Parts: sequence; C-alpha cells; structure tokens
Amino acid sequence: HRKYRRFDVPNKPDRQWPNHRIDSAPRWCAVDLRDGNQALVKPMSPAQKQRLFDLLVKVGCKEIEIGFPSASQPDFDFCRKLIEENRIPDDVTIQVLTQARPELIERSFEALKGARRAIVHVYNSTSVVQREQVFSMDKAGIKQIAVSGAQLVKDEAAKYPATEWVFQYSPESFTGTETDYAIEVIDAVNAVWQPENGQEVIINLPATVEMSSPNVFADQVETVCEGIKHREHLTISLHTHNDRGCAVAAAELGVMAGADRIEGTLMGNGERTGNMDLITMAMNLYSQGIDPKLNFENMAEIREVVESCTDIATHPRHPYVGELVFTAFSGSHQDAIRKCLVRREEGDIWNVAYLPIDPHDLGRRYEEVVRINSQSGKGGVAHVLERDYNIDLPRWLQQEFSRLVQKAAEDQGGEIDSLTIRRLFDEHYLAV
Ligand code: KIV
Ligand code: ZN
Repeated sequence: HRKYRRFDVPNKPDRQWPNHRIDSAPRWCAVDLRDGNQALVKPMSPAQKQRLFDLLVKVGCKEIEIGFPSASQPDFDFCRKLIEENRIPDDVTIQVLTQARPELIERSFEALKGARRAIVHVYNSTSVVQREQVFSMDKAGIKQIAVSGAQLVKDEAAKYPATEWVFQYSPESFTGTETDYAIEVIDAVNAVWQPENGQEVIINLPATVEMSSPNVFADQVETVCEGIKHREHLTISLHTHNDRGCAVAAAELGVMAGADRIEGTLMGNGERTGNMDLITMAMNLYSQGIDPKLNFENMAEIREVVESCTDIATHPRHPYVGELVFTAFSGSHQDAIRKCLVRREEGDIWNVAYLPIDPHDLGRRYEEVVRINSQSGKGGVAHVLERDYNIDLPRWLQQEFSRLVQKAAEDQGGEIDSLTIRRLFDEHYLAV
C-alpha cells in the first residue's frame, strides 16, 4: 500500500489536523452468516453458507460469526459441520450469537462442542424502549439478565475445557441506552467474567438501530471506553447498522474514539438497511496507505459469490465494488484521468484525478475507466483510440473527431463502444 499517501488531503503547515486518525486496521469480525443471513428473503442453503464462509476465510477474516445455532436448526447443523468436518483453518475463530437465556446458552455450547477456539457472543437488550415496551422491566432486572447470562456462559465453558473460549457481551440497542447505564451493565458482566484475570473478553457496542450522527455514536463509544473498569484487559468491538446511511462513518469514528474491533459484512448485507460494509471501511483505510489486513484484489469473485449467496444484486455505484465506480463518461473527467495516467510512472504514489484508488488493486482494468457516450469529450475519445488501437490523434483532430463521436452517441442514445469508435475513425479518415 506504499503507493498511497498516508493522507490524501493537502496539509496546512499552520494547522494541526486531523486530531484523530486511524493508524492501523482494527480487528475484523464478519457477521455475514448471522446478521446477513437473518435479513435475507431466502436464507442461505448449507452450500451457500459454506461458499460464503470459504470466501470470508479467503479474504482474510480471522473471526467469523457463523450463526445463531440455538435459535435455528440450520445454523446449528452448519456449526456442527464446520467443526466435525474440520473446515475451520487454525487461524480462524468462529463466533456464535445467543440471547442471554439459559436453554439457548446451553444449546450454543452444544453446537460448539469440539471447537478448537470459539467466541460465545451473548446479548440482551438494554435500551429504554426495549426495557419499557418490550420487556416491561426496570434497569435492575435487565442488568440481572446480563449478569445471569454471563455466569451461565462461564459455567458452561468450564464444562468444555478442551476449547479455548472467548466471551463476548453486547448490550443490544446500545445506541438507545443511557451510556452510564450501559457502563454499569458492562461492569457487572465483567465482574463475572473477570477479564483482569486473563479471560479474553470482547465488549461489543451495537448501533442496533443507527439513531444519531456518527460523531454522537463516537462520543458514546468514547464515554464507554473511558468509563468502564478494566478497559486495558478488554477488546472493544463495534457493530454498526446503516439506518441513516452512515454505518461505515460511525465505525470509523468509533475506532478513532477507542474501539479495537469492527463487526460488519461484505457489501453491507444485514438487517434493514444493512450492516457496516467491511469492503468500504477496509478499502477506505487502504486508500490512506493503511494495510487493512483484508484482501479484496479479486473483487469480481467476491462480488459474484456474495451476489449468488444473498441473491441481492450489487448497485452499480456501490463503493469499490459496483460496475461504474471507476468509470468516467464526462469529458473533463476523462481528460484529467488521461493526463494523469500518461504522466504516471512505475512506482509513483497514486495520484490520479477522480480515481481515489488504482482500479488494478481490485482486479479492475483501466479499460473500464474511460467509457464514451454523448457527454464525453475529446480527451476520452483520444484515450480510447490510443489505449485500444495505438492511434495517437493530433490535437486539432481530437476536437473534430470527438464531435463526430458525440453525434453518433446522441443518435444512438447511449454508450458507444470502442469498436464503433474505431469504425467511425476509419470511415472518416482512412477511407480518403
Ligand atoms: O444489531 C445488533 O444489535 C445485533 C446484536 C445481536 C449484536 O446484531
Ligand atoms: Zn446487527
């Protein structure tokens, strides 16, 4: 990633900024097979789950929430299959979600029997609306659910000493919870788990519903990081949803506010408007010269697998993934891109107008960048002839020929391909 600048925004010597920045990638946890799957019109088949699991491993996910086995028999069976058929690489840890209810916790441990290492993710809702309207319980009662759940997780784990257990707790609907109360519940859970004595504990703060702007979420995260006991022994994880369209921004600001780990999904599949998109956040880091520790260089394959497992088409403007995200139709953009690409030398820092990253890094081709329609100009048309046919048009001819191409595109009413451009050129200039 050395071809990217650490910051792509010119710095002013008299101004110290930004105050906060992300210096290294967080730990990632992919929840595609749980949050993603539970939001699908048609949940994934076992074969689709296996395909997506293998893809997540291939892109470098080391922690993967594989389901909610106590609530779903297919999830239970999938968990068993992964363990019994030895399909989990040594450096990958599976995670399962469970509500903080005794029979569900016990069943989750049954699902995980024989795992080398596993994260048991227990949650209960803590927000005002859930307390008052869903559970009709007061703060003490809700806290007790969390504490009893934590105790049972600890007791069950002790029954399976061959597995290395990591405990994770989520105050679900954290964004709608009074932050001081969330801290109180988290401290109570940790009083049971005792991370200070070496038990690995993850505290996951979910924006179950994205209720505020990302800076407010980051303030909540910071308040928890500063207010909880044993912060230094804990992993603080975030799980953001996209109701206001800011799940990635919230996760990024949350990391700046002190979080260590991010849960998300490929292309953001998940409940309602989806989860935080792992690809967007990872590639945002990459574009700033930070190794995201996830590998998206074969984006075409990633997209194909995600689409076929979720049955959701990719929007052509989906950041880093969509068909059109590296394409320029407009004349001035094409001209600028062409000039930058021509001047660019091997080993240069990536510095191409209108292209935040090199499409090659995601397995995309430069051929996709400049495409021609009636909005395109002389630079783009010249670029296509140069790129595809090694024809170097003199400036006076660029102007004249691009008008011909524009007219043809207008008549045709859409994109005009490289072969048609070449044919037009031959007809007008080579026939005479
Ligand atoms: O969105 C959410 O709160 C969840 C939790 C169960 C972590 O998916
Ligand atoms: Zn969620």
